[in-house]
Amino acid sequence: MNAICALDDVPDGGGLEAAPSVLVLRRGRDAWAYRNVCPHFSIPLNYEPDAFWTYGGGLLMCAHHSAMFRFEDGVCVDGPCLGASLRRIPIRIENGRVMIEEDIA
Ligand code: FES
Repeated sequence: MNAICALDDVPDGGGLEAAPSVLVLRRGRDAWAYRNVCPHFSIPLNYEPDAFWTYGGGLLMCAHHSAMFRFEDGVCVDGPCLGASLRRIPIRIENGRVMIEEDIA
């Protein structure tokens, strides 16, 4: 496993592109990682580097057509790709660092 960032690098209730195309979402001491690719048009979820739009510490909105994804499972709960999912990347939090399998990042 490789560290891709510190948990504290990720805004609480927000997201960070911690490695190329690897988006980490955080709420408190929990974090989830997904490919930064919207299942609607297969393009990045953000317009600008590290400008991810999140709501209530639990929803991520795609900057293009406003699909809303849950932090916990990446499922689209509103918008044009309702029911589709972001592609999950397994991570582990160790000593305040976000760890990822070496061959993924
Ligand atoms: S590209 Fe994300 S909602 Fe359309």
